Amino acid sequence: MRMYDLIEKKKHGGSLTRQEIRCMVQGFAGGEIPDYQMAAMLMAIYFRGMDREETLALTMEMASSGDMVDLSAIEGIKVDKHSTGGVGDKTTLVIGPLAASLGVKVAKMSGRGLGHTGGTIDKLESIPGLSTAIDRERFFRIVNETGIAVIGQSGNMVPADKKMYALRDVTATVDSIPLIASSIMSKKIAAGSDGIVLDVKTGSGAFMKSLKDSVALAKEMVAIGTGAGRRCCALITDMDVPLGRAVGNSLEVVEAIETLKGRGPEDLTQVCLELCAHMLYMAGRGGLDACRAMAEEAMADGRGVKTLAAMVKAQGGDESYILDPGRFPEAAFSLEVKAEEEGVITHIDTEGCGIASAMLGAGRQKKEDVIDYSAGIRLCKKYGDSVKKGEAIAVLFASREELFEGASKKLLSAYTIERGQEGRPSENRKRIYARVDENGEEYYPDPIS
Ligand code: URA
Repeated sequence: MRMYDLIEKKKHGGSLTRQEIRCMVQGFAGGEIPDYQMAAMLMAIYFRGMDREETLALTMEMASSGDMVDLSAIEGIKVDKHSTGGVGDKTTLVIGPLAASLGVKVAKMSGRGLGHTGGTIDKLESIPGLSTAIDRERFFRIVNETGIAVIGQSGNMVPADKKMYALRDVTATVDSIPLIASSIMSKKIAAGSDGIVLDVKTGSGAFMKSLKDSVALAKEMVAIGTGAGRRCCALITDMDVPLGRAVGNSLEVVEAIETLKGRGPEDLTQVCLELCAHMLYMAGRGGLDACRAMAEEAMADGRGVKTLAAMVKAQGGDESYILDPGRFPEAAFSLEVKAEEEGVITHIDTEGCGIASAMLGAGRQKKEDVIDYSAGIRLCKKYGDSVKKGEAIAVLFASREELFEGASKKLLSAYTIERGQEGRPSENRKRIYARVDENGEEYYPDPIS
């Protein structure tokens, strides 16, 4: 089988067979197929797409290109959750412990932030002593004992995706639904959980900016998960505005702890409760309404905090930071960003907020950059809020004062403030747009004004 012929076939819109996809993935991962041929194939897929069967075959071949984790040493039903990424997205830190406190086993492999989005591993590593590089045996033991462990992805998982993603990144082929879906789902399938809850973000801070594209991506991923024999569903949640009010690593851990105690921001709380309910549902704990009630009860009595503290301790971290979040060190410098005019906030460029946070040291511009855990942004005003001229819309935190100039300009330019727009309260915004499962999509009702 020649790669040239496969490119020719896809260029004309043909469907690749499982065998052809296997040869292509194995040949590329093994170094026999050069980057230039794979780049041509990726562009052909970008324009011609892939049908469900091809996308599932690509996913399974990528998943099996490296280590496939066998979680059978962990008792009970294991449910994973994956978010497509965003700004202020600390949902894993809330729903992981919350679901674990209700008996779901969460054996989670997470990633680091890159560009404008944050990553769970960076957030967790802001807790002194905590390690996310844990060997398999200890990982399983912690999940069996505490219900949850969160670690970084091991070196040899899904090597085909690592190589392919690096090539997509430099050939303008990232934003293709079959390529994104197979890339994400290959990692989830290799990670071994029985159930997978996907949080597909939509809006200005997300990969998918439109609801239509987000639903299409969710449907593709759910079809792959189901086709691979896993229980799988997706929620489409809002990332047109940062989630919660904290952006930046230790700031987000503190907000997650507050949310676990039932004192979190309303948008974050709502998204976490619905995601947690779906994790319980995937674990077969009852109907969705019963699962929602369980999640709400656990959040109201704060039991997830104890589970988070136990996980932190088991992973070598200092649990006193979870029990007393006031211990997290504050950044050396802070600056209020003030509104330059009066009006109502009618839009936030969420990607711009994420970039401002990274400029303060909370994220990486390049892979090798070192994170400043206390850096970030506390948003005082969000979509729909009224502001007066000179009123603070956000507070920036950094370890070096000179970082404020660029970051404050970036943040201010991310906000659109308009006069005469009163009456657009933030509560009117949808936080969850739809859910997708193997039976199709269901749209959530508009919030009550
Ligand atoms: N995240 C991934 O892991 N892969 C993609 O293609 C996009 C987002």
